[in-house]
Amino acid sequence: MTHSEAASRIAQLSKEINHHNQLYYQESRIEISDFEFDQLLEELVKLEREFPDLLLPESPSQRVGGTITKEFKTVEHSSRMLSLGNTYSKEELIAFDERVAKGLGHTDYEYFCEMKFDGVAISLVYENGKLVRAVTRGDGTKGDDVTANVRTIRNIPLTVTGDNIPANFEVRGEIFLPLKEFLKINSEKEAAGDQLLANPRNAASGTLKMQDSSVVAKRRLNCYFYQLLGEEIGVNTHDEAIHLIESWGFNVSPTYKKVRGIDEVLEYIEEWREKRFTLPLDTDGIVLKINGYDQREELGFTAKIPRWAIAYKYKAESAETELLSITYQVGRTGAITPVANLAPVSLAGTTVKRASLHNANEIERLGIHEGDFVAVEKGGEIIPKITAVTTERRRPGTLPIRYIDRCPECNTELIRKDGEAKHYCPNAAACPPQVLGRIEHFVSKRAMDIDSLGTERIRALIDQGFIRNYADIFDLEPKQAELLGLEMSQDQYEREVSGLLYISLEKALFALTETISFKQIQDFLTEFSHLPLREKLREFQAQIRIWKKKVPANVGMVEYLLEHLSRNADLTKLEDYVPVAVVLEIFLGRRIEFEQLLEASKKHGTVHMILLDLNLELPAELSERIKKLKANTFQEGVISNMLEGIKASKAQPFEKVLFALGIRNIGENTAQLLAKHFGSIEKLQAATAEQLLEINGVGETLVFSMQEFFAQAENLEIINRLKAHGLKFEIEQSESKQLGNALTGKRILASGKLQNFKRDEIVDFVQAHGGQYISSVSKNLDFIIEGEEMGPSKKEKAQKLGVPLISEEEFLRMVGE
Ligand code: IVH
Repeated sequence: MTHSEAASRIAQLSKEINHHNQLYYQESRIEISDFEFDQLLEELVKLEREFPDLLLPESPSQRVGGTITKEFKTVEHSSRMLSLGNTYSKEELIAFDERVAKGLGHTDYEYFCEMKFDGVAISLVYENGKLVRAVTRGDGTKGDDVTANVRTIRNIPLTVTGDNIPANFEVRGEIFLPLKEFLKINSEKEAAGDQLLANPRNAASGTLKMQDSSVVAKRRLNCYFYQLLGEEIGVNTHDEAIHLIESWGFNVSPTYKKVRGIDEVLEYIEEWREKRFTLPLDTDGIVLKINGYDQREELGFTAKIPRWAIAYKYKAESAETELLSITYQVGRTGAITPVANLAPVSLAGTTVKRASLHNANEIERLGIHEGDFVAVEKGGEIIPKITAVTTERRRPGTLPIRYIDRCPECNTELIRKDGEAKHYCPNAAACPPQVLGRIEHFVSKRAMDIDSLGTERIRALIDQGFIRNYADIFDLEPKQAELLGLEMSQDQYEREVSGLLYISLEKALFALTETISFKQIQDFLTEFSHLPLREKLREFQAQIRIWKKKVPANVGMVEYLLEHLSRNADLTKLEDYVPVAVVLEIFLGRRIEFEQLLEASKKHGTVHMILLDLNLELPAELSERIKKLKANTFQEGVISNMLEGIKASKAQPFEKVLFALGIRNIGENTAQLLAKHFGSIEKLQAATAEQLLEINGVGETLVFSMQEFFAQAENLEIINRLKAHGLKFEIEQSESKQLGNALTGKRILASGKLQNFKRDEIVDFVQAHGGQYISSVSKNLDFIIEGEEMGPSKKEKAQKLGVPLISEEEFLRMVGE
């Protein structure tokens, strides 16, 4: 590619990427997938590396991150970042207005109303149009320098261009994690069995303090700005300032309004009371500010807060309702979450029927009794929570809630680890939701990517004994014949305490009769639901005559059913269900003993499995009739599709396989890191805690989960089976090309910003030249490549340990580049 071709492609790519960013941030829309977006970005980065003179400071490639910050520098704010006085009451708001009027000596002033955004306050400093510093609020006087992380937020201008841009200015605003992103991250975390983020604000503040800015880049933080500071800005009112920063490209929430008089402020408050739930982020109130700067100055400050602004906070809406029951959910990791089922109550625009109770401590703290009336609130968290019990309404004689001690799914005794609030079901190997969860994670898009294996199919395969762990998936191929006709759901079956399998009456009648649709049968049974079984069947016979549908044959079959039911009157009666064995006897009575049918229907959960067990040769017509008893079944197309998907997944690279194993605390990024670092599962398994901790991003919890995983014989056996099926447990040769051996035996770390490498690249580069990349300063290092802005504490530590620092140029010379 020529220089000018590159220039035009770079311009085009930048334009496209900016367009998609704009769509995403301004209109909450997407036109291309994350993957396609990343590809555009990757192409841009590559071109800019080839033609470094074409790299513009405002290029969207500057948002991908890659800087590692071990410790954030403390920076002083040019002027204090103040907090606001706040109130929950309208009377106090009116009193505030009276103080303003008194302070100014007249009522000729305007208010500027804004939403109060629930995020993390940030200050951005620009010099000569360039973003030079982003600092958190900290204690108001000084905060943390989080510039590297803030630069990855795609709609924060890195450069501001145009006429009359002041040489120095500062904007302040609120960084937040959009609710949609928050929910997405949490659902991914849930699928991976990781600890969930508590609420969007904590998530935003945690993200801002991450050490690896490329991880921040993936989190899609956003920001609203509400303040402009600086000398010689040339504006006299807040609304001018807001319009100005908007025109410079800063994101301003369109929810502001300039008003006159406290009545209009109260209207604004009412306007947004419910509407705020439609905004892309949490808001906890409104902020009211005097619009004129001169008037602000006249009013001045008290010790900590301005006299010209105040926040009005909406009370978290609360409602009282009755606790109906508590159910206990078993998560993928076996963690038990109690959920309160409530009498439906309307709260903050939605109907609430359930609330999380978190854990046993929470139930104890609240002191809930059965059937209590409780207060529910919708706060910053998405799921409503129970905040109190109305003890005055407690019915006499009710007992406190007793927490379960056995798993509601598999009846295993629950355990509670030291220091953990949650109870766990330890039966990881066989507890159905844990098995299902692990397999769902294993096949998920970002892991093995077997999209032909949806939850319903996995559940059917687990329930009917085909799979118990993810290695079993790869043994399905030779079982094609048994899979054909396998029932997708077991909703139509019911198992009686004696273990006998029952089937819904509607399915039974559907199979026994001809030319009557399932819908007609359902409608009939709904209409006559009040009748006892025998009368119902008599009525059905009458109905067949009215319909005139194959009268002798159909009436005869219902008669058979009546006869067989009375012959087996000793079997338990279940409302609207009949024993599967009785129905099958009508079809198969001449071929097999009833005893055998009874036996088989105690052992299996579906008609399909019973028939497989009995292994009868049936004429096609009879098979067709019996098929009408079954639920939706696996057909040839579905099966071959599934097996194709399973086969194709064997090509997934090691890092995906590693992620798919579902080792606690190993997310996608960590799996990638570990796969690259160790190259194979054997090396990973053999790694000592020390070796693991040397990797940036690996902490003790992760080391512990890994040890726990590899210590279990079942896991090792599963890995061996997966290996035998051809799954990849080492990095492909081509994935780690060897470029030379100039660094053989050398242990190396790079710190600060490098000119020629991104973070991942330097790791690859060192390894490709035979070296070992180490991620923390220790005396074992041979040297450190010192990049721009290397952290002072790191430098000091290196010097103390006597580890030499070399420049990037020197390093490149060393490998002969
Ligand atoms: S103005 C002196 N406007 O609330 C004026 N603050 O309690 C200072 N906040 O630290 C801030 N939304 O983090 C202002 N529209 C808004 C705001 C807002 C949220 C936060 C901000 C500040 C805190 C003050």
